[in-house]
Amino acid sequence: MNDRMIIRGGRPLIGSIVTQGAKNAALPVMASALLLRGGRLTLKRVPDLQDIHTMADLLRHLGADITFAGGNMTIDVPDELKWDTPADLVRRMRASSLVLGPLVARCGRAVLPLPGGCAIGSRPIDFHLKGLVRMGAEIDLEQGSVHARTGGLSATRICLDFPSVGATENMLMTAALTPGESVIENAAREPEISNLSQSLRLMGATVEGDGTSTIRVVGTSRLQSATVEIIPDRIEASTYLLAGVMTRGEITVTDIVPEYLQALVCKLEEAGVPVETSGNSVSVSCKGLKWNGVTLKTLPYPGFPTDLQPQIMAALCMAEGTSVIHESVFDSRYVHVAEFKRMGGKIDIQGNTVVVTGVHKLMGTEVRASDLRAGAALILMGLAAGGETVVCGLKHVWRGYESLMEKMKSIGADIELLADDKSAV
Ligand code: EPZ
Repeated sequence: MNDRMIIRGGRPLIGSIVTQGAKNAALPVMASALLLRGGRLTLKRVPDLQDIHTMADLLRHLGADITFAGGNMTIDVPDELKWDTPADLVRRMRASSLVLGPLVARCGRAVLPLPGGCAIGSRPIDFHLKGLVRMGAEIDLEQGSVHARTGGLSATRICLDFPSVGATENMLMTAALTPGESVIENAAREPEISNLSQSLRLMGATVEGDGTSTIRVVGTSRLQSATVEIIPDRIEASTYLLAGVMTRGEITVTDIVPEYLQALVCKLEEAGVPVETSGNSVSVSCKGLKWNGVTLKTLPYPGFPTDLQPQIMAALCMAEGTSVIHESVFDSRYVHVAEFKRMGGKIDIQGNTVVVTGVHKLMGTEVRASDLRAGAALILMGLAAGGETVVCGLKHVWRGYESLMEKMKSIGADIELLADDKSAV
């Protein structure tokens, strides 16, 4: 895929967007297929994204056979699996760490190169490892890889130091294949956790309390084939709603669960943006709108999502007045601020807090995406700015936004991919 696009901004975006399946639900559900022994996990509404293909390549390396077409995926898992994961795949995507628990539970062993940090922070996996040790795994760190082994795991109570999404998911999957009752305390409450829990229930485990901080799992020694539907992507849907706000257009996102967007909807209403919710759609209508600055803090679900922090910051760059944003989930998720300032954003970083002073005009220029959500936010900035914006580093964006060019053009965006020599493709 091309790595650069050009956007001619300043046009109101108008129309309706069908929400994709959630990347961050599909990835753990795919990993949970490893819990099967000679079984098939079928997934519906899987988004066609770079990260999904990376996870599929990793599962194939371990021995699974995968078909993926039109949003439908089958994962056939043989009796015997490899348990040594390849560094080139693992380092490409942090979510590769989600195969750790299933491999230890299924094979009694796993070797996983430590996933690197990225633009949004150091991103260790110590909570994952602590939980596995708690269940009876032995963990050694050798030459930058995790070496895990066990003679047999025991169901038990696992208390997470932080409601980590990935650690909760690894513990859920491990406990599902460990006979007996496990309890995960201080669990993450994201909708993606419930989607994985539903998948594990369909495979034969008992999982109760998902969506709350305490999840009870009664695991079993053999799980069975199942079919599971992936939930809609709340971050993708929110990104398009914010595109509607920033361009003062009218955007409806459909096939979404409005409850998933509650934190954003509350913040938008606080800023004076009218939001309509009906059935499985959410709409914003922003013709001629002026919105106010707000104060917000990113938090684990149901708090304001950190994956929406760059995008809401972009919208607040155009608010009437000042906003204060506190990123509390990651230790450094402000790499995008420098690029926003190059487009005219008035932003001041004060420790882990950012003060945004709204301006009436953003100017197009060439900018570079540092990570997935920063890239999406830069596209929003370009859609709202006057003149032309060239966004580079799109390889980050293709990881999480399915059919982005088609979707953006369908709502009126003047947006084109650039060949390497700057000509439009
Ligand atoms: C998931 O990452 C998402 N990724 C991230 O989305 C999302 O930003 C994050 O949850 C928070 O909502 C997927 O689901 C594939 P965490 P994850 O464990 O599981 C620290 C996107 O754009 N931590 O909840 O890695 C960690 O450093 C991506 O789609 C530890 O210290 O997030 C962070 O500061 C970006 N030790 C905080 O906890 C650990 O063992 C939350 O991380 C694990 C995490």
